[in-house]
Amino acid sequence: MSARIAVLASGRGSNLQCLLDGIAAGQLDADVVGVFSDKPAAAALDKVPPERRWARTPKAFGSRDAFDAALADAVAASMPDWIVCAGYMRILGAGFVQRFAGRLVNIHPSLLPRHKGLHTHARAIEAGDTEHGASVHFVVPELDAGTVIAQARVPVLPGDDADTLAARVLAVEHPLLLATVRLLVAGRVAEQDGRVRLDGQSLFNPLRLDSAGNLQP
Ligand code: GAR
Repeated sequence: MSARIAVLASGRGSNLQCLLDGIAAGQLDADVVGVFSDKPAAAALDKVPPERRWARTPKAFGSRDAFDAALADAVAASMPDWIVCAGYMRILGAGFVQRFAGRLVNIHPSLLPRHKGLHTHARAIEAGDTEHGASVHFVVPELDAGTVIAQARVPVLPGDDADTLAARVLAVEHPLLLATVRLLVAGRVAEQDGRVRLDGQSLFNPLRLDSAGNLQP
């Protein structure tokens, strides 16, 4: 049976699209059962049929917790095996995270633990980093602090600005996310005591995307 994946997205949805493309190409044995957004105008929503879309404006709810609870109920109703945050730009409350602990992952545009939060590309340039990239990690209540499963690295080049660097990172985000979700749905990756286990073996470092698009220990 194909794995059921729920995707949380706030924006253009290119990472969602790469999962959909992977499914269509037979590279990912999964079904995107719902796309959930805090931005009703998000382009990501248009990538799935209307009955698989859920979007609400947080302002319409009385509190952060009320929005999170409605989102969590909608996600749960789609009966997902995995929940993937792909450009979801709103912090998830502890209640949401705990409800889906262990099957909730996020793609973040930096080499975590460097540059948690926003504006990661500008901050990497400002810090004089020579390498930058993206990470897929398990989500915990503390922002961008969960165990990192896999990373992809790119060089920071002289003359880069945040936009040129973001484009270089995005190009590796897509194969990184696809390869990581493939491992997750195959049941090959789990987390134990803050470490990633691949095929039952504890890893000391995140998996690394190679130039062929494969993850290497
Ligand atoms: C991606 O670069 C993703 O890593 C980032 O938002 C972008 C979404 O692009 N996520 C975050 O910054 C999460 N804090 P997309 O909508 O085209 O997939």
